[in-house]
Amino acid sequence: MSTQHQLRFGVFFQGVNSSTIWRSQASGSQTDFASFRQIAQTAERGLFSAFFLGEGLRLREHLGGIHELDVAGRPDAQTMLAALAAVTSRIGLVATQNTTYNDPADLARRLSSLDLISEGRAAWNIVTTHNAWTGANFRRGGYLEHHERYSHAEDFVRTVRQIWEGGPVHHRGNHYNVDYTGTVPVSAQHRPVLFQAGDSAEGRDFAARQTDVIFSAHVGLEDALEFRRDINARAARVGRAENSVKIMPGAEFIVAETPEAAEEKHHWVREHQIGPQQALAYLEQFWGTRLESVDPHGPLPEFDPVVEQSSVTRGSGFQGAKSLELAAAWRAEAKEKGQNIIEFVRSRSHRADHTFTGSYDQIAARLARYAELGAVDGFNITPWLIPTGLDDIVNHLVPRLQERGIYPEAYAGTLRENLGLSIDKTHEQRAQQAPLAEQEVS
Ligand SMILES: Cc1cc2nc3c(=O)[nH]c(=O)nc-3n(C[C@H](O)[C@H](O)[C@H](O)COP(=O)(O)O)c2cc1C
Repeated sequence: MSTQHQLRFGVFFQGVNSSTIWRSQASGSQTDFASFRQIAQTAERGLFSAFFLGEGLRLREHLGGIHELDVAGRPDAQTMLAALAAVTSRIGLVATQNTTYNDPADLARRLSSLDLISEGRAAWNIVTTHNAWTGANFRRGGYLEHHERYSHAEDFVRTVRQIWEGGPVHHRGNHYNVDYTGTVPVSAQHRPVLFQAGDSAEGRDFAARQTDVIFSAHVGLEDALEFRRDINARAARVGRAENSVKIMPGAEFIVAETPEAAEEKHHWVREHQIGPQQALAYLEQFWGTRLESVDPHGPLPEFDPVVEQSSVTRGSGFQGAKSLELAAAWRAEAKEKGQNIIEFVRSRSHRADHTFTGSYDQIAARLARYAELGAVDGFNITPWLIPTGLDDIVNHLVPRLQERGIYPEAYAGTLRENLGLSIDKTHEQRAQQAPLAEQEVS
């Protein structure tokens, strides 16, 4: 089979959330370097293309205080990746960094430094950060509306690209005026690989115009195929070749030797990801009040939320939700499905089509279908246990994928090469020069 149909894996090390189990005897630490090193080295043993870190610049809050169940340690991604560069040698190092609060010249220099010291393994996952509350950390503060954030992102990335091309830069953009002379030589892969995560129409157009890889949320086969068609259409409109924007959805894998063992594991994972306390805390975000007197093994509260909208300090998926409407709809849904609070919150937190549960052989066969149809270029795996959560995948699933010819047998070289990417000079120039009128959302 041609390399075009190969799948690649990345590993997405998350902070504290509802998908990684931090409260088991087997759990590592979300801040100790040892956890990061072990999982990055396991991923590298499994020939993973990328080790991926998200970005969260402020602790989430709960009912006006720090969220105790969610006290997330999230060390700065670039600092962590620089340390990992010294204890790994082939795996890509992807730093999520936002274009809303950073500064292009500064970020360009730091990312190319990572690219240089890692010998061509760095990538930047471009996000705009939609949290209303993150802005309060910064000098320029405040909150930018959606369109305004993408307008910044466009100007930001154009500035960074020019800096990475080398030579003196005199950039006059809508948001950034930068006069800069590079201080870091071009790396082995020319420039860091550009990832993007953001799913709106504007985010997709931005990705199709400016980036190499999309970290998507479209995992189920039909959904992934539809997303591929959509991105190909958007990329074609800016003159890019079919499938030149790679797509790697985030996914969870619960795999074992037999289907029965995988089901048992799945049960254990779900039990440990969201327990009674986490389930109640989830509802409290929307009810706007403590629910300690509510039985998590019983139905959703009959009384209404005390707020009109959920707080903005909780983060994505929560902010500004219309609590009264949601509460009514959820009560009805849980009742219809016969779910108690824990079951309901679990079903909302973990979409079935985002998880691959099954025996190694079953999952290898399912992934072969993705490769055959070219639905995705790989998966960004979120391990449910750190630091041992990739062991089964690396030891048992990867060899089966290699046998089927849909997974690399060796590293090809730089991150760009490992992802099968090339630099299309014509497109790079076009992306830099496209007049702003062409950037309207389609
Ligand atoms: C798969 C995925 C991962 C993301 N990871 C982060 C992250 O780590 N930090 C962050 O600030 N935003 C993250 N975001 C959100 C981005 O800030 C994104 O810009 C936001 O969703 C707004 O863009 P959109 O309206 O186009 O979706 C992520 C989004 C997606 C889809």
